[in-house]
Amino acid sequence: MRIERPRTFDRFGALLINDLQKVYQLDSAVARGEVSQRGAIAHIPGDVLDRIESQMVVIVPVRNERLRLVEGVLTGIPGNCQVIVVSNTDRSPFNRFSVEVDAIHNHARFLDKTITVVHQRDPLVGQAFAEAGYTHLLDEEGLVRHGKAEGMIVGTMLATMTGRKYIGFVDADNYFPGAVHEYVREYAAGFAIARGPYAMVRIAWHSKPKVMTGQDRLFFAKWGRVSAHTNVFLNKLIAHYTGYETEMVKTGNAGEHAMSLDLALRMGYSPGYSIEPYHYIDLMERYGGVLRDLAEASDLGEGRIEIYQIESRNPHLHEVKGEDHVDDMIRAMLGVLYHSRLTPEVLKTDLLAFAREQNLIGKEGSIPAPLYYPPLKEMDCNRFREVLKAAPYFEELVSSEN
Ligand code: GDD
Ligand code: MG
Repeated sequence: MRIERPRTFDRFGALLINDLQKVYQLDSAVARGEVSQRGAIAHIPGDVLDRIESQMVVIVPVRNERLRLVEGVLTGIPGNCQVIVVSNTDRSPFNRFSVEVDAIHNHARFLDKTITVVHQRDPLVGQAFAEAGYTHLLDEEGLVRHGKAEGMIVGTMLATMTGRKYIGFVDADNYFPGAVHEYVREYAAGFAIARGPYAMVRIAWHSKPKVMTGQDRLFFAKWGRVSAHTNVFLNKLIAHYTGYETEMVKTGNAGEHAMSLDLALRMGYSPGYSIEPYHYIDLMERYGGVLRDLAEASDLGEGRIEIYQIESRNPHLHEVKGEDHVDDMIRAMLGVLYHSRLTPEVLKTDLLAFAREQNLIGKEGSIPAPLYYPPLKEMDCNRFREVLKAAPYFEELVSSEN
């Protein structure tokens, strides 16, 4: 792969947010060798990407998606990756989940590998979190709460049991297997150029095709309706502290992202669809150096956190889930931004005015505070693993064959 090197970055304490990187060639036809970073371009040979992928777990969150889409997504994931599907698909009144499991296992047979499928509300999973001392994620029944972030956290903990180093997330409702393949290759490219163990790679879509109403043509939109706002607000937050106006953040809502597990265990999370914007906020709070209590609790030492933002080439086409869904996502983003200890009063006023203007809350309404999930490294990982020994998927999860 040939990929632009980051032209510049914003630094916020130990956090480096690198500028968007364009991809120039998906497959550079050089199979072997070292990563070379001369001039403006980083060149990453195929075997370097393959090696990183063989250290990666791809986690696919899914809730009530069409099976044809899920199957397409699985088709796109490079063979070296281990795959964990974390589902929150309905089990009543009909057991859609069991049909999903059958379809995924059937697909896996053609790949000659196992694909682990776990329901996030499996009581054993809830019990494993409880016994490992992480009840934050659980509801009154002791089950993992509903929500995309909650599924991702389950996937992250399961990934720690595989012994692999990296995790990457891909949504299950993508129409193009080729796009999924590209995202995972780009995660690997990001890790190939990362300098330390604490790295995150976020995908910015090159375009998102939309059918123009009343016209028989496509429009290739650049920004999603949510991320257009998220990016502006996150950049304002950074600018408040650095004193320089910035457009560095271009992946405020990147559902497609990957992390080293070293980093994933050292971050806090927030629920549902707020998780991706909250990545930035949590990292700025925890490693930005402004909040002394969190900075002092950090075990990063001389290390730094690197965020890479890579612009993918395939158009991104996924299921349309309606206006209310988009509004919910904007509300989720506003919640984590508004309630951050870093957010200055001026920005809070902007956020509140925006929420009221857009009718996301009542005219006199306020922005509700989200739940927060503390870093997973607080958990007793051995206990978590012990409890899951009783799960039917335990062996496939920990087998190095995958
Ligand atoms: N396990 C699990 N649990 N998965 C879920 C849940 C849940 O409760 N809710 C949704 N999902 C799955 C969906 O099935 C899909 O595969 C993926 O999570 C993303 O959900 P969508 O509902 O399709 O979200 P979106 O397409 O509007 O938004 C996506 O893109 C945004 C912008 O990049 C998400 O990835 C957002 O998180 C992201 O910010
Ligand atoms: Mg989607």
